[in-house]
Amino acid sequence: MKGIIIKCWGEAVTARFGKEKWGEILENSGYSKYKIVVASEDMDDAIAEKNFLASSNILGISSKETIDLFGDYFINTYSQKLYPQFYRKNDTLKKALSDMDDYHKKISQILSGARPPRLTCEWSDENKVTLHYKSHRNMFNFMLGILRGLCKYYNEYPTIKIIGRDTVEMVFQK
Ligand code: HEM
Repeated sequence: MKGIIIKCWGEAVTARFGKEKWGEILENSGYSKYKIVVASEDMDDAIAEKNFLASSNILGISSKETIDLFGDYFINTYSQKLYPQFYRKNDTLKKALSDMDDYHKKISQILSGARPPRLTCEWSDENKVTLHYKSHRNMFNFMLGILRGLCKYYNEYPTIKIIGRDTVEMVFQK
């Protein structure tokens, strides 16, 4: 996985818990506590996943709080600075969801070596969408945290129901 995700996590942890805690998480994942993560570097998927799993213990928060902290920071702070054009282009949650898959594909052309997830939408009517997550990684829960961060950004809160191992159904109010 590209360093961009871990770098963002480092910023989120440091902003809320301080840099000592981030140092502990890095050490727990086998890195020096002083490691500077670079967005374009390739990081071992297993280490990245371990990093997140270990974080909740080290920070003393639940795994749901951990993924929501990441998802909120990633969408509402980090990607706002790095990818403002995405939000300019997509002014509603529905448009953002429908653009997610293409946008990840575009990013992976720029960030060489990225293998982002597929996030495909099947709209059964204008207010109901089935979102399929497909990845060689197993980060469905992590996807849910980012999705909740996205709902917060647009201040739109459709119901989100998990209907399979890698699928959610979202229903918007009319
Ligand atoms: C402007 C918004 C977004 C940007 C710029 C972005 C960018 C990225 C990048 C660069 C990666 C790393 C890929 C790699 O290293 O192979 C990634 C991973 C990921 N993204 Fe996004 N993303 C955005 C929004 C979203 C949203 C809204 C979701 C969920 C609905 C999402 C779900 C994920 C997941 C789950 C991963 C982890 C890798 C995996 O599961 O395979 N992203 N994203």
